[in-house]
Amino acid sequence: MSIAIESLQLIKRYPGQKKEDRPAIDTIDLTVESGQLYGLVGPDGAGKTTLLRILSTVMEPTSGSARLAGFDVMKQSEDVRALLGYMPQAFSLYPDLTVMENLKFFADINGVSAQKQKTRIDELLEFARLTEFTMRRSENLSGGMRKKLALACALIHDPKILLLDEPTTGVDPVSRRELWRLLSKVIQQGVTVLVSTPYMDEAERCNTVSIINRGRVLISGAPAELEAQLPFRIVEVKAKPRRALRAVADRTEGVIRWRAVGDRLRLSVSDPAKVMPRIEAELKKDGAEISILREASLLMEDVFIHLVEKQEAQS
Ligand SMILES: Nc1ncnc2c1ncn2[C@@H]1O[C@H](COP(=O)(O)OP(=O)(O)OP(=O)(O)O)[C@@H](O)[C@H]1O
Ligand SMILES: [Mg+2]
Repeated sequence: MSIAIESLQLIKRYPGQKKEDRPAIDTIDLTVESGQLYGLVGPDGAGKTTLLRILSTVMEPTSGSARLAGFDVMKQSEDVRALLGYMPQAFSLYPDLTVMENLKFFADINGVSAQKQKTRIDELLEFARLTEFTMRRSENLSGGMRKKLALACALIHDPKILLLDEPTTGVDPVSRRELWRLLSKVIQQGVTVLVSTPYMDEAERCNTVSIINRGRVLISGAPAELEAQLPFRIVEVKAKPRRALRAVADRTEGVIRWRAVGDRLRLSVSDPAKVMPRIEAELKKDGAEISILREASLLMEDVFIHLVEKQEAQS
């Protein structure tokens, strides 16, 4: 299996950051195998954008190194750029250029020959379902359409590796699904995709995920693997009145923590077989009406919350 993206001991300290501050990127080792859909998951300020900027050769690290398809991001940045598509978090598009003009512009700066441009642009317009909007200025596109255009621009030169920085943030749920449908097509064509996201359901779709917080990788692995490693299980409860439910969750022995998700609570417990009867008894004692009480599967969100809380508690 060949390696598409690799970073070694990567550190980035921004000019304003003092020696004693924790760097934006604090010693990151990352290995992404070719053909993978790899997710970088982390809260605001975790360092996702900083890492992607370094990998895309836009910015140099303070120390450490990174390679894309074997090329060093600092010493061989031209080679890296030739095989890389990068969709920044902030818009890369020119607002006063039309959809067509943006595509042409990106084709030109990426050295796509005039001969190839026509077929490639038509292909991408079709792919992103933007064919009807070629004459519209990008500033007048909806947020979702703009993201799709930015993705099309990043793909214009047939890159082998695609770096996407929160491609679906601020996009409605329908457009989010559409973007992920497009991404799965890109993956099917053999492109390696490294995508950052704050959304746990998107992390769940990746082959491998790295959870990052405060510039560090907390854990990496396949979502199911990470879920299986958690030192607790989840019990889902729905009961009325909700105040009683919360009170019971607070006082029942064996509940490590709980959180509300929609109209129910997800309780982290070490032993569901012991805790479920206790919850039931307590709720009945309080006269609550139970509609759901069962063990539920673990989610990336549980992994994420667990690890981030643990890290915060340690520091
Ligand atoms: N140009 C800069 N100068 C100084 N500090 C910066 C700069 N850019 C980012 N930082 C800091 O570096 C850390 C990482 O920021 P970064 O933008 O990489 O995080 P992120 O994970 O992309 O967050 P978000 O989800 O909000 O996009 C943050 O603490 C941020 O304040
Ligand atoms: Mg960011």
